[in-house]
Amino acid sequence: MEHEHADPLRARRRRRVLITGAGGQLGRALQDAFAGDDVVALSRAGWDVTQPLADPRPELDLVLHTAAWTDVDGAEADPQGAAALNVGGTANAASLGAPLVAFSTDYVFDGRKREPYVESDGPSPLSAYGRTKLHGEAAAGSDAWVVRTSGLFGPSGHNFARTMLRLGAENDEVAVVDDQRGCPTYVGHLAAAVRELVDEDLPRGIWHLAAGGDCTWADFAEAIFEDADLDCRVRRITTDGLARPAPRPRYSVLRSEKPGAPALPHWREGLRACLEALDLPR
Ligand SMILES: NC(=O)c1ccc[n+]([C@@H]2O[C@H](COP(=O)([O-])OP(=O)(O)OC[C@H]3O[C@@H](n4cnc5c(N)ncnc54)[C@H](OP(=O)(O)O)[C@@H]3O)[C@@H](O)[C@H]2O)c1
Repeated sequence: MEHEHADPLRARRRRRVLITGAGGQLGRALQDAFAGDDVVALSRAGWDVTQPLADPRPELDLVLHTAAWTDVDGAEADPQGAAALNVGGTANAASLGAPLVAFSTDYVFDGRKREPYVESDGPSPLSAYGRTKLHGEAAAGSDAWVVRTSGLFGPSGHNFARTMLRLGAENDEVAVVDDQRGCPTYVGHLAAAVRELVDEDLPRGIWHLAAGGDCTWADFAEAIFEDADLDCRVRRITTDGLARPAPRPRYSVLRSEKPGAPALPHWREGLRACLEALDLPR
């Protein structure tokens, strides 16, 4: 006879989890990571987070709030629009009253440091996007887990890895900036780390959760071409040559100084996992 609840993990009650921005790359990865729970996944059509959630509000054990304005350059032209989403949307997610995980960014830092940014470092965003995300951290409230992460990529949506796979297949050479150093983070690895944070009920507050290792975007592009067997060179350029509207930190490596912080795999492992998930023809 099968022993019900012999496995303590199975004995745990299924949590009722709301995911906002469920059509985004992190929203999708979180749906996979929390598949054992009772997940309500709402894309923008299901809940425009700039408005309060319509009644009746569901009973919730956890809110994973990924919906955001992520167009860093676009936020310079419309900082109010970005704030409505990144600050107002986060306040609406917090107002549901359930334990909340809100996501923030390495772009809250100015990049002047030359060693990894830890949670106790003072933020000083350079861009409108970074400022709205920093205000969003405050809107999440002191009882939320605020997860700062970096350079997200995965098998869906708009991200650097997918852009490079497309450009690398079409060109012999691409120009990529070599003076911004960070931790490109695979969404699947981040989603697993978020589950660890919540399952272990680690203390609320700011957590830096980003891939192990660090690299420049040019290093990352080279690794993408190598691992995807694409015959494309990387021409290393500086940010000045791009003239993009939003300034970006030159150095934004994130590490956690907190005991028991979930450790994410190295970015290169994240790249391999992403390519596997994409199941590219070889
Ligand atoms: N991407 C990165 O490199 C990066 C780095 C550090 C931190 N983060 C943070 O990580 C989180 C997840 O980012 P991501 O890369 O998964 O972003 P994403 O792929 O751009 O997903 C964001 C989602 O939010 C949705 N959304 C936009 N406006 C909305 C609204 N008014 N109401 C409800 N949903 C709305 C978008 O829907 P539509 O598709 O319909 O627009 C999209 O599906 C964000 O908080 C972001 O700031 C991202």
